[in-house]
Amino acid sequence: MLNIALPKGRLGEKVYDIFEKSGYECPAIHEKNRKLLFENPEKGICYFWVKPSDVAIYVERGAADIGVAGKDILLEYEPEVYELLDLGMGKCMMAEAAENGYRDQPDRTLKVATKFENIARNYYASIGRDIDIIHLNGSIELAPLLGLSDVIVDIVETGTTLKENNLSVNAKIVDISARLIANKASYEFKKERINAIRDDIGAYLEGQKA
Ligand code: PRP
Repeated sequence: MLNIALPKGRLGEKVYDIFEKSGYECPAIHEKNRKLLFENPEKGICYFWVKPSDVAIYVERGAADIGVAGKDILLEYEPEVYELLDLGMGKCMMAEAAENGYRDQPDRTLKVATKFENIARNYYASIGRDIDIIHLNGSIELAPLLGLSDVIVDIVETGTTLKENNLSVNAKIVDISARLIANKASYEFKKERINAIRDDIGAYLEGQKA
């Protein structure tokens, strides 16, 4: 069996659709229930739904041989996994944003609210800026509005959340999209199978572009 961790939710359904159309279907997954694990013994595959931010943990520890995780999670947690393919979906960016009209004072320590502490630290280190990180778990956009931080580092997809809260992007930090990842040991032992999946998905995605 090849264990595949998929991110639960809207992105996960699109990701499963790609696996299915690439020849790795598991019909049981379409049943309306709250099961988290689905097998197709004929194909020798087992899918399971996990919280998107947990996919990399399952794959790093080998509970899943492969999985699909956002580049944001890979950059934030730096898991020891192989990144095999950019699926070109779930596209968004990591950006610094602040209240409209915000004027930076470069000589002051910048107060940064974020869920993505590691990404933020690396980014500000790369531009040589002193920061004070305020780690939040959600509703990051509130922080500058209430004076908790000067700026935020967060995911921007459509830009609607920023706009509706009178915030705007100051700087793009990095582009984000969903990636196919593999456990390092699994990749050594099941290289042919995993490469076949990567190639079939890659070919399907190329076909979609044409
Ligand atoms: C993310 C992010 C923003 C929002 C941006 O949150 O934190 O709040 O999406 O999307 P937009 O540019 O299309 O408005 P998410 O929905 O992932 O939930 P979260 O609050 O758990 O981070």
